[in-house]
Amino acid sequence: MLLERIEALKAQIAELQANNEEALEALRIKYLSKKGEVTALFNEFRNVPAEQKREFGQRLNELKTLATEKINALRDSCKAGESKAAKIDITRPAAAEEIGTRHPLTLVRKEIIRIFERLGFTLADGPEVEDDLHVFTSLNFAADHPARDMQDTFFIASDENDVTRNIVLRSHTSSVQSRVMLSSQPPIRIICPGRVYRNEAITARAHCFFHQIEGLYIDKNVSFADLKQVLLYFAKELFGPETKIRLRPSYFPFTEPSAEMDVSCMLCSGKGCSFCKNTGWVEILGCGMVDPNVLDACGIDNKEYTGYAFGVGVERITNLKYMVKDLRMFSENDVRFLREFETAH
Ligand code: PHE
Repeated sequence: MLLERIEALKAQIAELQANNEEALEALRIKYLSKKGEVTALFNEFRNVPAEQKREFGQRLNELKTLATEKINALRDSCKAGESKAAKIDITRPAAAEEIGTRHPLTLVRKEIIRIFERLGFTLADGPEVEDDLHVFTSLNFAADHPARDMQDTFFIASDENDVTRNIVLRSHTSSVQSRVMLSSQPPIRIICPGRVYRNEAITARAHCFFHQIEGLYIDKNVSFADLKQVLLYFAKELFGPETKIRLRPSYFPFTEPSAEMDVSCMLCSGKGCSFCKNTGWVEILGCGMVDPNVLDACGIDNKEYTGYAFGVGVERITNLKYMVKDLRMFSENDVRFLREFETAH
């Protein structure tokens, strides 16, 4: 016990600082005066068993010498006018600030944007709280289309008698596509990154919000072949030059024909593995030629112009690139997860 207290005091005294005479005197009183802490230990010395007196005596003397020398040294430096402030070594390198890392979804979003920017696409933006017109009606969703149903869409204000007056959280970034078409004329070549919302239970594989990047190109003579070429370029840039793509017929209200695109599995290079369920392919996006009804509803002459659109899920691509197994990781802000992307870019 006593030995520990001696050592603790030693450590304390070694660290002492004093800027001026008053502070120094206060330290002297605290440790070395009649009621000081060092003196108090000397008073306890008489209780130490005889056979230990030698060792304790030695330690106590060391402590006293240390305290006296320290206080003398501090006095010298005070006298020389060397305050603590003056002793700061301004040449010492600063301790490194810990800086944050970019979120994996940001990394992937930027990477996707950069690929399309190289092809001449420009960025477009729109609100997350949208009206039915931009999310559904102008995109050729029939009034009774199931995607308007409460199961998918979060309604902020709804009017049962007139669905076109409903205010919703956008369920896809295609709403930006209709905004741009309604307010400008071709040529239009845009990508719209953004957050979208769907009323789904949160699990490892589904979330009530996620991120999409929608692409839209409208001009004279735009064909399905153009779409395919652009998507092939995109897939190779994103997953490597060996990547193959495959388009499967699909359905979206706003595109005709519509397709879903798969890329050759990046883990097994298309040979088949558990990741791609032995198919050799993984799905990455939806696409198609803009339905003439959509062009018409948005004030674009569908006899003069044609266009294609595609929509990519940012989480989906991030999962494929970085093998993130649980969607919830993206919004939990667990730094152990986020740090894994420190060196990603
Ligand atoms: N908006 C579609 C979705 O959310 C994706 C898509 C965009 C499909 C553009 C075709 C064309 O699933």
